[in-house]
Amino acid sequence: MKHIVQEPILQAEIFQKVPAFTRQEAEDALAFCCKRLDETMDSFTDQFPRSSSENGWYAGGANDEWTCSFYTGMLWLAYALTGKDSYRRVAEHHTENFEDRLRHGDMDTHDIGFLYSLSCVAHYKLTGDGHAKDVAVGAADALMRRWKEKGEFFQAWGRIDDPANYRFIIDCMMNLPLLYWAGEETGNALYTERAKKHLKTTLDNILREDASTFHTFFMDPETGLPHHGETHQGYSDDSCWARGQAWAVYGLPLSFGYTKDALAMEVHEKVTAYYLNRLPQDFVPYWDLIFTSGTQPRDSSSAAIAACGLDEAIKYIEREDLKQIYTGAADAMLRSLAQDYTTAGQKSNGILQHGVYAKPANRGVDECVIWGDYYYMEAL
Ligand code: GLY
Repeated sequence: MKHIVQEPILQAEIFQKVPAFTRQEAEDALAFCCKRLDETMDSFTDQFPRSSSENGWYAGGANDEWTCSFYTGMLWLAYALTGKDSYRRVAEHHTENFEDRLRHGDMDTHDIGFLYSLSCVAHYKLTGDGHAKDVAVGAADALMRRWKEKGEFFQAWGRIDDPANYRFIIDCMMNLPLLYWAGEETGNALYTERAKKHLKTTLDNILREDASTFHTFFMDPETGLPHHGETHQGYSDDSCWARGQAWAVYGLPLSFGYTKDALAMEVHEKVTAYYLNRLPQDFVPYWDLIFTSGTQPRDSSSAAIAACGLDEAIKYIEREDLKQIYTGAADAMLRSLAQDYTTAGQKSNGILQHGVYAKPANRGVDECVIWGDYYYMEAL
């Protein structure tokens, strides 16, 4: 693996002095999330919110995007938090829909991990439902079919026989937990072996020497050797897409939790320092980390994901000073989101505003994005 720079965390002292995010702050913010779910559940029982809002409103649609599990995931979070059956009933109904998608719908994506971890795996973990477990294992099998032996990775997008799509992306760090889980549940070591190999391919190739990440990385379909990095949703091929870096900040400790691969946490410290060092004053990044001031749109969802990643990492790191810094950084990001980024008091069916889906495509810019709502609630 190439040498990757470890930047010092420039605001370490500031983060160490951040007042703790209190239980009261969390309860108030979660009450708002549950209120939004109460207001929207009827509309999103047989339909799913689209990936991003338009003027603060999510339309409903079929279960055909990579993002359809995030609303379901919020329902399971709300059920775990409150024990209210109203959330559970709708979330259980969604499992039928996810089963239908598995059998007949669009599964030409590696985002099967996002889709089925937050729906069917959550259903199984919270209720013990064996059918939900079977659907989730079926989904893990569908992800396994995206494995590419030459280059050892899971193909991100498109038809599996399309050589123009011979690439993996940083987001896939979030899809691996479905495979680790399936390995544990079924006793079939192949799920875990491939997830670990994909992790290694990612660490070897998608990181740049300065600890920033490419969004996507192509392998040569003939030789399986590394080819080139390219952005899809970032500013440029050599800039660092803010959500991509956040997927690394969260995805690496998730992998470590299953694999205990020390390299994942070593790299995590580096990508996290890179991320924290490019936050503007209110700790919510611009949509690409090439911007550190000015009027470019923020991506609030990136901050929510990174806050989850810092909280996850704190479970595994031993250095007290680093734990303090990460705790303060996560609390600072969450407080900023809770105070200045929610839709409270506005006419909206979303939770977190000022997210960006894909700036280069002018899609979902300065809008609610459904994964931003989800990770904000998960972080809380
Ligand atoms: N996984 C796609 C995105 O973050 O937009």
